[in-house]
Amino acid sequence: MLQTLKPVPPDALLAVTEAFRADPSRDRVDLGVGVYRDATGITPVPRAVRAAEQKMLSRQATKAYVGQGGNRPFAAFMEKLALGANHPALRDGRVVTLQSVGGTGALRLVAELIRLSGYTGAVQVSNPTWANHVPVLQGAGLATAAYPYYDIPAGRLLAGRMLEALSACEPGTVVLLHGSCHNPTGADPEPGHWAELAEVMARRQLVPFVDLAYQGLGRGLDADAAGLRLLCERLPEVLVALSCSKTFGLYRERVGAVMCVAENAAAAATSMSHLQALARRNYSMPPDHGAAIVAEIASDPALHADWQQELDDMRDRVNGLRKSLAGALRSELDSGRFDFIEQQAGMFSMLGLPKDAVERLRNEHHIYTAPDSRLNVAGLSGKEIAAVARAIAAVSRT
Ligand code: LMR
Repeated sequence: MLQTLKPVPPDALLAVTEAFRADPSRDRVDLGVGVYRDATGITPVPRAVRAAEQKMLSRQATKAYVGQGGNRPFAAFMEKLALGANHPALRDGRVVTLQSVGGTGALRLVAELIRLSGYTGAVQVSNPTWANHVPVLQGAGLATAAYPYYDIPAGRLLAGRMLEALSACEPGTVVLLHGSCHNPTGADPEPGHWAELAEVMARRQLVPFVDLAYQGLGRGLDADAAGLRLLCERLPEVLVALSCSKTFGLYRERVGAVMCVAENAAAAATSMSHLQALARRNYSMPPDHGAAIVAEIASDPALHADWQQELDDMRDRVNGLRKSLAGALRSELDSGRFDFIEQQAGMFSMLGLPKDAVERLRNEHHIYTAPDSRLNVAGLSGKEIAAVARAIAAVSRT
């Protein structure tokens, strides 16, 4: 049987990390996969995470399974973090949440739920979108289509064209949106655009599917979820994939959540029953550790405050890096071509360079971006900014 399989190429984004690791140059800079790095170049374990782990380990008495929906205090906290404590959807009891295996696991479970509902249309994704969105959706048996989102050469959001395209979708169409810190572009809809999105989606009876993986790293915990909160107020159904990888620095612990906002409490409970069944036949029981850490932080006001402080500091640092890099590029090129880097939010921006320029960055300058010229700004330690700007200028001049 195995002999019938043909090899598939490695994941193009994850291959960037491998290529970086194999590069012996002392000047190498990894701006590929989205992980935050501090000024010393490491991806730190947040202080609150470390403290929570110590508390948990000293008192843990069993490794017996957690229940099927995962850690319940964790799920309740994630709902409040995403929606705000007093959201009407929470008050109306039309929200259910299941712990998932990272944000990607949440995307997969939502995709399976969509398929289970008998949906036959294509899921609309932004052009461009995260390199793994289409594989996850198609892997669950869904078709995909793309709506205009971003003008890559001009470095700007195409809000009008997005709204126009979504206005033409069939009622019931599922539309994947990035809650904030759009990956790969860093360009988010403005608050006014979210209001228009909510209006179009309500009028056309579209179903938003929101991927919120970078809450707190763009403009702030509340601001980064404002679009999602509005959709959940205005629309009867919203599907949400949440991730704790970046917001809590828990990358390898693989913790996230699926949140379904349904028309009423009964429909929400039915969705939860299906999510539990889907999880059971995928991996049976969720892992404990990551969600337990988040629940511990949520239950301890001092840890909670410290986590928020560190997240604020990370965000300020990334915004500072954006400013420095845009400034260095302005000086190198004597033009504002890359000024959009400073205005965008979250970990990524897209340089808009052709494939050969991305290869020259890698081969001649040892700078590793994603293949589509996405740059993980949050991966810069800071010291390399001048060299990175010089290299980007060199490959973009010719
Ligand atoms: C990224 O886009 O780099 C991150 O979301 C990590 C990943 O799994 O691709």
